[in-house]
Amino acid sequence: MKKIPVAAVDLSGNEENYVMNALRSSWISSSGEYVNRFENGFSSLCGVRSAIGVCNGTIALHLAMLALDVRPKDEILVPSLTYIATANAVRYVGAEPVFVDVDPDTWCMDPEKIELSITPRTRGIIPVHLYGHPADMDPINHIAAIHGLWVVEDAAEAHFAKYKGKPVG
Ligand SMILES: Cc1ncc(COP(=O)(O)O)c(C=O)c1O
Repeated sequence: MKKIPVAAVDLSGNEENYVMNALRSSWISSSGEYVNRFENGFSSLCGVRSAIGVCNGTIALHLAMLALDVRPKDEILVPSLTYIATANAVRYVGAEPVFVDVDPDTWCMDPEKIELSITPRTRGIIPVHLYGHPADMDPINHIAAIHGLWVVEDAAEAHFAKYKGKPVG
């Protein structure tokens, strides 16, 4: 049976040269040419003012929870189908991930199921753009605005995927 890979790694560009350049410059941590180039290039491709490079997607989500002052007893809505890091980031700050069912066609959080899960302890929503497919952000943002919730998009699987013409995240 023919299999479709979840991801196909392509390192056929300048990746090896860049790694060697960084090693030879001894800037392999904290700063150096490549962090700035990555942050500037990434933010410009996403059409946003700035980007901060961190070492992986899990750390990015954890930092977002800390920046939003998420605390124990807070409830955060996450899709029931995602990579474990989405829910783990919520647990790292002691809060409760509350699982919202996904749309059977897109496999992303089903906006129609969100309000069923909102309680007085709900603080925010983390929709995930799963397997490169954008979640339906307009109704999600609308529900969040009505209930005074923040939205953090987990775009770890969907860099440069577009929702209504704009890059996700
Ligand atoms: C949806 C989603 N969120 C978060 C992560 C975490 O990213 P990382 O493995 O870089 O920590 C992943 C990784 O596969 C992911 O698929």
